[in-house]
Amino acid sequence: EPVPLPEHDGVCYPSFLPFREKGAEQALKDITNFQSRDTDIMICTYAKSGTHWINEITSMLIRKTAELDNINKATTMLETISDFSVTDDLPSPRLLNTHCQFRYLPKGHIEHRGKIIHMIRNPKDTCASYYHHSRKDNIFLSFFGTWNEFFDLWMSAKCAYGSWYTYEKDIEQAEKDYPGMIFTCSYEEMKKDPKTEIRKLADFLEVQCTDKLIEDIAKATSFENMKENKIDFSKAGDGTTFIYRKGIVGDWKNHFTVAQNEQFDAQYVEEFQDCSYKSMFDL
Ligand code: A3P
Repeated sequence: EPVPLPEHDGVCYPSFLPFREKGAEQALKDITNFQSRDTDIMICTYAKSGTHWINEITSMLIRKTAELDNINKATTMLETISDFSVTDDLPSPRLLNTHCQFRYLPKGHIEHRGKIIHMIRNPKDTCASYYHHSRKDNIFLSFFGTWNEFFDLWMSAKCAYGSWYTYEKDIEQAEKDYPGMIFTCSYEEMKKDPKTEIRKLADFLEVQCTDKLIEDIAKATSFENMKENKIDFSKAGDGTTFIYRKGIVGDWKNHFTVAQNEQFDAQYVEEFQDCSYKSMFDL
């Protein structure tokens, strides 16, 4: 039975506990006021852009090992945490993550120019992946519809976290406002040439590592290895897990009709014309 999601400023959010209990406006305020440490590292992504992937890569670089951390990403996701004091016990550098728009990030983190890692994925695959996630994650997203219905939700920015374009345009602006603070990598580049991208990320994090370690991390964070060996903490209504689904570029082609693709392309051109970032819809 679908229930309305918490909403603020025209954007709705998954019904995570803090959003349910305090309302979206207060939950977002609490995120903005989160006490950050100078050394915090924030993973910022629109939902379904490869958050678990980049989170694991970053975790390995910080720990200088190619061992999977097997930490539940949700425990370090700002919008799911009811009592932030649980983060007090995390060793520095703390690795945190959020899908909230840049404007809601902890203001302390921005003030001291804390590190931000941003992964961007082409919006067609993001949309298709989000559809599957939404169908499974009934507890927080309350979606029981078809692909066509999800497509319309996305197009009208009524899916949780709102418009992909607003999210990405916010970050692009922030990259200009705070040079050097944000490291952006794309899902597609990471897929194509993980070693090069992981090396760039290591440099951004100021982590010294050997080529061997970079290679080992690339292997350990391949889709196949993570699907096989990383604990998937997600739980669908039917008890199955769903984070490691396909992990490819171009699966949108198995979802979009010709008409939907045309509608999507027209919106992409209109919304994204002033942005320098160009999506790779194919490898
Ligand atoms: P698909 O649904 O297209 O398979 P998030 O972590 O932001 O929720 O994103 C999940 C998406 O990233 C899923 O996409 C998932 O399969 C993919 N993914 C997870 N781990 C990956 C990896 N190691 N390599 C490539 N894609 C990965």
